[in-house]
Amino acid sequence: MKNKRLIGIIAGLAALVVASLIYSSMNKPAAKVEQKVAKVGVLQFVSHPSLDLIYQGIQDGLAEEGYKGDQVKIDFMNSEGDQSKVATMSKQLVANGNDVVVGIATPAAQGLASATKDLPVIMAAITDPIGANLVKDLKKPGGNITGVSDHNPAEQQVELIKTLTPNVKTIGALYSSSEDNSKTQVEEFKAYAEKAGLTVETFSVPSTNEIASTVNVMTSKVDAIWVPIDNTIASAFSTVVSSNQTAKKPIYPSATAMVEAGGLASVVVDQHDLGVATGKMIAKVLKGEKPADTPVNVFSTGKSVINKKLAQELGITIPESVLKEAGQVIE
Ligand code: TRP
Repeated sequence: MKNKRLIGIIAGLAALVVASLIYSSMNKPAAKVEQKVAKVGVLQFVSHPSLDLIYQGIQDGLAEEGYKGDQVKIDFMNSEGDQSKVATMSKQLVANGNDVVVGIATPAAQGLASATKDLPVIMAAITDPIGANLVKDLKKPGGNITGVSDHNPAEQQVELIKTLTPNVKTIGALYSSSEDNSKTQVEEFKAYAEKAGLTVETFSVPSTNEIASTVNVMTSKVDAIWVPIDNTIASAFSTVVSSNQTAKKPIYPSATAMVEAGGLASVVVDQHDLGVATGKMIAKVLKGEKPADTPVNVFSTGKSVINKKLAQELGITIPESVLKEAGQVIE
């Protein structure tokens, strides 16, 4: 009788212990122990609508791969186009214990590349990773850097210029002398344009301060203005447009945001798509892939964007076929 009671008590206690163990393990999901929060450092070179879209795309791409909410901590910095800030912020992002660092635009990626030789660096929308000395080989980067490249569809841009404005003979290329991404684009554009019988004159500016005076000089010498994927010009594009107000030369920039802000037309790579692809590549590296073995993802085909409203103001008729094929028409 006594023994039975004791066994009963022991069994009851044991059941209680087991139940409390199960209960506490339910409250502490095992997954949380092994899944640490991913830390992603992001350096955006400057604010302009295209780079802002890329940053948005990066967050969307990461979220698609499961890095959202409390699964990821993004340590975001913007150097506001200031090279000395690029250097200090790059060092900070590397020192902050991030698992991977991301550079949006060439100067930011270059800053991060010189701040670390072993932490993975992901390039977001870098036009010429080789010319900018970031990687040696696009297919096999080799070092701690890989990412996404936005190669300007220069040949298609030249074709569009010829179609929309057949009277244009001389084109002025407006770009920043301090951006490695622009130098290569200008050379490539010049080669295609000259092959198509056009003359290209180059006008480089050291900073946004010289844009207005340079555009004033250009408008007296050229029939049209072309702008590459250049951060300095993109961040002060309204100055380009206002300085051209009297001359009203057609402006052919290289990003949708610049067409929307007063450019005539372009063939462009989608900025949000670039960001999403970058976000997905960051996720791969977070999951253990090595930048050295991850080929650079190059976006080089574009869709056309036409500012029909501006064309009407300039007395330019856009052929129906061009409008039909356009990725975007601004009415
Ligand atoms: N490709 C540019 C670079 O390498 C950055 C960039 C992306 C950009 N999209 C843009 C610049 C649009 C101007 C406009 O730095």
